[in-house]
Amino acid sequence: TILIVDFGSQVTQLIARRVREAGVFSVVAPYQEAAAAFAEHKPSGVIFSGGPSSTHWEGSPRAPQEIYDSGVPLMGICYGQMAMNDQLGGRVEGSDHREFGRAEIEVVGHSPLIEGIWSPGETHTVWMSHGDRVVEPAPGFEVVARSPGAPFAIIANEERRAYGLMFHPEVVHTPDGARLIESFVRRIVRATGDWTMAAFREEAIARIREQVGDGRVICGLSGGVDSTVTAVLLAEAIGDRLTCIFVDHGLLRENEAEQVETMFAGRNDVIFNKVDASETFLNALEGVTDPEVKRKTIGRLFVEVFEKEAKAVKGDFLAQGTLYPDVIESVSPTGGPSVTIKSHHNVGGLPERMGLKLVEPLRLLFKDEVRALGRELGLAETFVGRHPFPGPGLAIRCPGAITRDGLAVLRRADAIFIEEIRAAGLYDRIWQAFAVLLPVETVGVMGDARTYEKVLGLRAVTSTDGMTADIYPFDVTFLGRVASRIVNEVRGVNRVVYDVTSKPPGTIEWE
Ligand code: XMP
Repeated sequence: TILIVDFGSQVTQLIARRVREAGVFSVVAPYQEAAAAFAEHKPSGVIFSGGPSSTHWEGSPRAPQEIYDSGVPLMGICYGQMAMNDQLGGRVEGSDHREFGRAEIEVVGHSPLIEGIWSPGETHTVWMSHGDRVVEPAPGFEVVARSPGAPFAIIANEERRAYGLMFHPEVVHTPDGARLIESFVRRIVRATGDWTMAAFREEAIARIREQVGDGRVICGLSGGVDSTVTAVLLAEAIGDRLTCIFVDHGLLRENEAEQVETMFAGRNDVIFNKVDASETFLNALEGVTDPEVKRKTIGRLFVEVFEKEAKAVKGDFLAQGTLYPDVIESVSPTGGPSVTIKSHHNVGGLPERMGLKLVEPLRLLFKDEVRALGRELGLAETFVGRHPFPGPGLAIRCPGAITRDGLAVLRRADAIFIEEIRAAGLYDRIWQAFAVLLPVETVGVMGDARTYEKVLGLRAVTSTDGMTADIYPFDVTFLGRVASRIVNEVRGVNRVVYDVTSKPPGTIEWE
């Protein structure tokens, strides 16, 4: 295990992911909890994240002394480098030469950390984001690389196995960054690299069996990847004591509900209850135009419908597809650790009300890992590799009031768009692609008649995390083909437009 001490950087989770991609398990702890996490996990290496503080600020964060005393290999990134350098007896200063964004560093020394990746004399592109900088390395540290703004872009104390990087190796803008992190965990720490989904699957199944004993588990399915993978994993572990409740809110995409059903159709051990609640949802949403009211209504109804069904089932445990990012405590700007737990589709308060204990077999995984686990469990690539889809579903892709007819139009048009994207081999290059049915009617001409029908918006973006996004640059011929298919095949649409707004300033969804 590698422990990542979070000093409040926006990208700390990326460090954890890069470490895991190198085949080594990682955990994240806010710096205030780092001592406890160090004792609990007994990590074989520690990485200090970046952060918004300056080591000159009164009370700015530091790592617990016992981590230094333990002698485990250390890697400090950005603020983490400065905190480490300061704690080990070096000097850090504020600098007029701030570096933000792309920078060139020059390699000036040897180190096992960079061996086979970078050599002395070379220059390489990295991503910097700092105001302070190291001006005097702590005793025992040598300089390995420098940049115009940071004379100590990489420092290394080979005897102590401690490394300080002024730049961020965890972001994609540092092209060789992932290899440097891999080199730290595999070559310096000598971690074994046995964190694979095949191993996780076996462990997770054993853990579920141990936790559940001979109890019964209820699992809610929403149609999404997380809840489906949770259910399939549970089915493997305790299939004959599992009841799945699939709440179909009527706002899924074409064939999506059927896909989920098919996955469990062949299993005689698992009890699979599908609740077609679309009438309940659509009635409650009638005339609702405010996007937040739509979201709240759907969230509330989901819990209500699920709870009613679950009460009719005998169960001791409730399964949830909670992921690691929902579990990690984040470092709040005010200093204290703050817990962020997303409430979406998590049946809030229900375990207590029904006297159920929680089973959360995915709580150690990042989203990519859930997909990998789904593949490992034999789920189809077309399901596991699907673009993210919002919990409120198509409700927020019909700006304004939702109608049954509108949903049918949107479903078909969306399916055509996705079908064409897949046929062109572009699906996996796109983060999210979807159609939006606008509450606007425009004039068209079909045959000899004038039409007065809805406008359909198409959106496709690239992104790595949904936080920022760029439009996908389809060629115009492709867009023309999609538009002509939709207008010809879908009654109710006579005009198609393509959204060319990046995020920011636009959001990915239209509501
Ligand atoms: P925006 O539209 O804010 O979306 O740029 C960023 C990402 O979040 C998804 N999204 C949601 N997911 N419930 C969800 O589960 C929601 O209410 C919701 N709203 C947006 C969106 O699809 C994109 O991936």
